[in-house]
Amino acid sequence: MSEAKSAVTQVQPAAPKLGRLVVIGLGLIGGSFAKGLRERGLCREVIGVDLDPESRRLAVELGVVDRCEVDLAAACQGADIIQLAVPILAMEKLLTELAKLDLGTTVLTDVGSAKGNVVRAARLAFTGKSVRFVPGHPIAGSEQSGVEASNAQLFRRHKVILTPCEQSDDAALALVDALWRELGADVEHMEVEHHDQVLAATSHLPHLLAFTLVDSLAKRSENLEIFRYAAGGFRDFTRIAGSDPVMWHDIFLANREAVLRTLDVFRDDLDALRDAVDAGDGHQLLGVFTRARVAREHFGKILARRAYVDAMHSNDLVFLANPGGKLSGRIRVPGDKSISHRSIMLGSLAEGTTHVEGFLEGEDALATLQAFRDMGVVIEGPHHGRVTIHGVGLNGLKAPAGPLYMGNSGTSMRLLSGLLAAQPFDTTLTGDASLSKRPMNRVAKPLREMGAVIETAPEGRPPLMIKGGQRLTGMDYEMPMASAQVKSCLLLAGLYAAGRTSVTEPAPTRDHTERMLRGFGYPVTVDGSTASVESGHKLTATHIEVPADISSAAFFLVAGSIAEDSELVLEHVGINPTRTGVIDILKLMGGDITLENQREVGGETVADIRVRSAKLKGIDIPEDLVPLAIDEFPVLFVAASVAEGRTVLRGAEELRVKESDRIQVMADGLIALGVKAEPTPDGIIIEGGSIGGGEVWAHGDHRIAMSFSVASLRATAPIRIHDCANVATSFPNFLALSAQVGIRVAEEGKA
Ligand code: S3P
Repeated sequence: MSEAKSAVTQVQPAAPKLGRLVVIGLGLIGGSFAKGLRERGLCREVIGVDLDPESRRLAVELGVVDRCEVDLAAACQGADIIQLAVPILAMEKLLTELAKLDLGTTVLTDVGSAKGNVVRAARLAFTGKSVRFVPGHPIAGSEQSGVEASNAQLFRRHKVILTPCEQSDDAALALVDALWRELGADVEHMEVEHHDQVLAATSHLPHLLAFTLVDSLAKRSENLEIFRYAAGGFRDFTRIAGSDPVMWHDIFLANREAVLRTLDVFRDDLDALRDAVDAGDGHQLLGVFTRARVAREHFGKILARRAYVDAMHSNDLVFLANPGGKLSGRIRVPGDKSISHRSIMLGSLAEGTTHVEGFLEGEDALATLQAFRDMGVVIEGPHHGRVTIHGVGLNGLKAPAGPLYMGNSGTSMRLLSGLLAAQPFDTTLTGDASLSKRPMNRVAKPLREMGAVIETAPEGRPPLMIKGGQRLTGMDYEMPMASAQVKSCLLLAGLYAAGRTSVTEPAPTRDHTERMLRGFGYPVTVDGSTASVESGHKLTATHIEVPADISSAAFFLVAGSIAEDSELVLEHVGINPTRTGVIDILKLMGGDITLENQREVGGETVADIRVRSAKLKGIDIPEDLVPLAIDEFPVLFVAASVAEGRTVLRGAEELRVKESDRIQVMADGLIALGVKAEPTPDGIIIEGGSIGGGEVWAHGDHRIAMSFSVASLRATAPIRIHDCANVATSFPNFLALSAQVGIRVAEEGKA
């Protein structure tokens, strides 16, 4: 064991650190493994073994191995590591041969595509003998085959799965792991059974389908005709039917049980789809197709992100904001985030089909959309902001197959918790690193008082585990904080709770839930600061036009105010009075902002907002405006930084529990840029002056990233803003619109 351990720690490029590597089976995979390690100079010698003399000759000629041996015993004598790269059904015989040799501390490993049968064969062959065996599977095939296709780079950025068994000691596992990593592979460890099940679903089943489809069509008498017209779809779907038949025949025989399990599930799904076609059930078809399409896109993104991470060795998206700029133009920022979330929730619970326009295609609202798809709601789109929701009624949601992932979105998690507390099924709500730190007791506690059964992680953090099948009872709740999310959560629970549910807020907060419930025909009473609902009514599908988000417009309201000689128009912005604190505060600071063309759209007021440059002055921000501008403070702090005099914010402790601690994170960034900013427990004091350049961190908070982009307009040098990827949660086209009006911010490295 100690020998192998030292081999691992010694694995360094440049000098040969292993003695003998033997590769048995000089095909594409074995040859590429041998060639890669040989080129890295990690072994004193690389020896190839193959039954085919031509492969042996080529392997030496092409520099895949140092030499070949015909005799297995001679090759393996004194080897440090032996790689078994023979066809999977030949493995049993080979292992029996190897068991006859004295292998000492030699480590055996393999590359078979199914692992259960190899592990069984090794157990059988080595009964009563000790062996160091680490089963492995590089997922790196290619249409090419044979030793002549050997490629030292084949495994770079490809996954290799190791499935340690009782014969894999820690040092042997570490050695094999280190060798694959030397070849640039992304190594993971997995249980044998899990590997076989995952591969049956993701690789073996698709190959089976491709082979059958081509064979089934080819057998038909009109096959020539079919193939002549077979276009992209057929070609794409059946590419893998060109793979090596013998190898795949081996794989299906080797991984029989797992393949049968996955095939049976698939057959049931296929039968259900057949029935839907037969019955003309378009709803069922649309459900399957929309879910599949989203899943495919999601999968594409995962792969893309992996490639990005690989290329950059980090996921830090940096914005580079160059100083100066004069703004002009007319733009429409994306749809309101709060309203977009609610349109999906209420549209799903309504009876009939709801059409939404202007939907925000940002990651937060999409997380809500996906959650409802996961609960069986058929949702078409979004396509250019249009979404069609086939409502299932208040009692029509289905149990999701797994946890519902809310990404970065506090609104999704808090509002959904109210609704899910009343469903007949259990759910788990999870989120990303930022959301996983945010307080959820503010919803869990009152929901428990209504009869909900909810568990959280320590200190009331996500994930939330919600037990279904509870009977909720309405109650009167006095909110300890001014939160529209808590209010909305309880009102949504109230749709299912016996009797009346009333929520009283300490200060006005956004009232989109109340307005939209009414828009769906559900009665809501509002009496002063108390909103109430009673269960027993229904939601009726409607048409929703989502106005542009004032919280996104806010970046340009500040930008237009602080940049010199600027004038901008922001079109069709929602100016619900519970959201317009940013306009009031900027006006108190001396901002030049006018509302034009005010109109009512589906229960919400909208206007075009004109902003011109102005000489801003510092103010004491009135505390009653805090909840009405709660999301706009990061960018208002930027306005305060260039205003004349001191700005003081108090009563805004809620800012500390947003996507980041917005008081601390903004203070840190502003101070780094030379601004005099002093955080206080519930606010900040900013002495206006000038903004310098430098490095700041958005801490994954979209609004911080965008605020520092705006700061560049008055900065004296470039600002590099780290950790900006989450801008996509609320404002996916922020950079494009910024460029259009004249803010000089872009992803670093891109013009
Ligand atoms: C929101 C309410 C606010 C706000 C958030 C969206 C909503 O949160 O900050 O961005 O859609 O209800 P709180 O209710 O926590 O203040």
